[in-house]
Amino acid sequence: MLHWQTLLESSLKQTRDEPESRFFQLATVNDKGMAQNRTVVCRDFSSENDTLRFISDTRSAKFAELRHQPNAAICWYFALTREQYRLTVAAAIDTPQTNIALCEHYWQGLSRLGRQQFLWGRPASIRPQPQQPLQTATDSEVVPVHFCVVTLNVFAVDYLNLKGNPQQRQSFEKKHSQWHSTDLIP
Ligand SMILES: Cc1cc2nc3c(=O)[nH]c(=O)nc-3n(C[C@H](O)[C@H](O)[C@H](O)COP(=O)(O)O)c2cc1C
Repeated sequence: MLHWQTLLESSLKQTRDEPESRFFQLATVNDKGMAQNRTVVCRDFSSENDTLRFISDTRSAKFAELRHQPNAAICWYFALTREQYRLTVAAAIDTPQTNIALCEHYWQGLSRLGRQQFLWGRPASIRPQPQQPLQTATDSEVVPVHFCVVTLNVFAVDYLNLKGNPQQRQSFEKKHSQWHSTDLIP
């Protein structure tokens, strides 16, 4: 039986020419107990550490939600390989104040357009003049104070492969640093 890390590495490899295969949905819970969901870009997957990373803005709702409740869920579907991964994760967040080297690493890897998204005003605040282009700060070499890198530590995986008859479903659970897997009826 293959480990989920090997399966995910293989899915990423097979879909490397499709940018959308790097997008996954991240569900969090807000302070009212309501589920919230959005798409983010996977910037890194470490099969050794069981972690995924994405970058974000500390002024966004997801930052407050993950601070309040670090447990979150990912749903990631690879259309080409017809595989779904549902990952149960715990988030750890780094900002320029907690780990400048890590934040600089991801900031330097962004295109000018990618950086610009962090240089507008506060996310979700009202845009005063929608007909005018958004003004951005000019200095994009310096990591903004509100930039953050979110590391998601995976501790359970539900894997579903729609290819083949029967379909394949496996559950993986990490207990005391050891992974245990079980074959399930899809
Ligand atoms: C394809 C795609 C990729 C995205 N990637 C990110 C990302 O990596 N980080 C991020 O903070 N927001 C990303 N977003 C925007 C989020 O989905 C969301 O709209 C925004 O971050 C506000 O979410 P929040 O209010 O739940 O914090 C992406 C959106 C799309 C459609």
